[in-house]
Amino acid sequence: MEKSYLEKIKETAAFIRAEVGELPKIGIILGTGLGDLVNHIEISKEIDYHSIPNFPVSTVEGHSGKLIFGNLGGKYIMAMQGRFHYYEGYDMKEVTFPVRVMKEIGVDTLFVSNAAGGMNKEFKVGDVMIITDHINLFPENPLRGKNYNELGPRFPAMTEAYSAALINMADDIAREDNIRLMHGVYVGTPGPTFETPAEYEYFHIIGGDAVGMSTVPEVIVANHAGMRVFGVSVITDLGGKDIKEVPTHEEVQKAAVKAQPVMTTVIKQMLARI
Ligand code: HPA
Repeated sequence: MEKSYLEKIKETAAFIRAEVGELPKIGIILGTGLGDLVNHIEISKEIDYHSIPNFPVSTVEGHSGKLIFGNLGGKYIMAMQGRFHYYEGYDMKEVTFPVRVMKEIGVDTLFVSNAAGGMNKEFKVGDVMIITDHINLFPENPLRGKNYNELGPRFPAMTEAYSAALINMADDIAREDNIRLMHGVYVGTPGPTFETPAEYEYFHIIGGDAVGMSTVPEVIVANHAGMRVFGVSVITDLGGKDIKEVPTHEEVQKAAVKAQPVMTTVIKQMLARI
């Protein structure tokens, strides 16, 4: 008989426990913009996604797929190098599976990053935005379907989806180091199209500051599982009804690379403090 979702989570967690000596409490999803953070990790173990039972395999250009265990900012962490996007064709249970596994092995704090298009008129390309909240515009919620009560409640609150304490900590670091950090609401869309000018405008009117194609599913599942979450977006392009520049994947990657030093500094210092 096909294994249940819960059985798959437990099986994958057991595999990781057997592979890794020490188990981390902090997980990091290295999206666009946090790629450079890998170079700062004192790596003790790497596991290729291909060799992890039940793990989906990453396909997107610019994202390789492995789990990395090691020390960063004086803390033992695990990082996902490469994430699974809904637009690649994975279903929501696959997109969020690694977060479930993280929780199962004991991770209680999740850092996520992404690239996003800015709609807030104050934003510039290359800015880093702390995600204070999100709007879920994916066509499906990852929690749809049978609820496993051992994983979390049927109707989880999303009132503080992004930890206020962690946001304050990032703000303190930015103030001390004179780093420009923006705040804003992230709109999560399925992609893979970038937005029409009217869509950017619409997302701004409904309360969004930046829009992207990831993060929201993982953050919903992390909250369901009772994890604390910190999220950041690199603003890689700007959108709105008067903006004619056409975003391309290459430009998004280039802008993200530019923002990496800021992202790396903030995350490393946060780890040192938590
Ligand atoms: N829209 C959606 N996703 C994105 C964008 C954007 O403008 N930029 C980077 N990811």
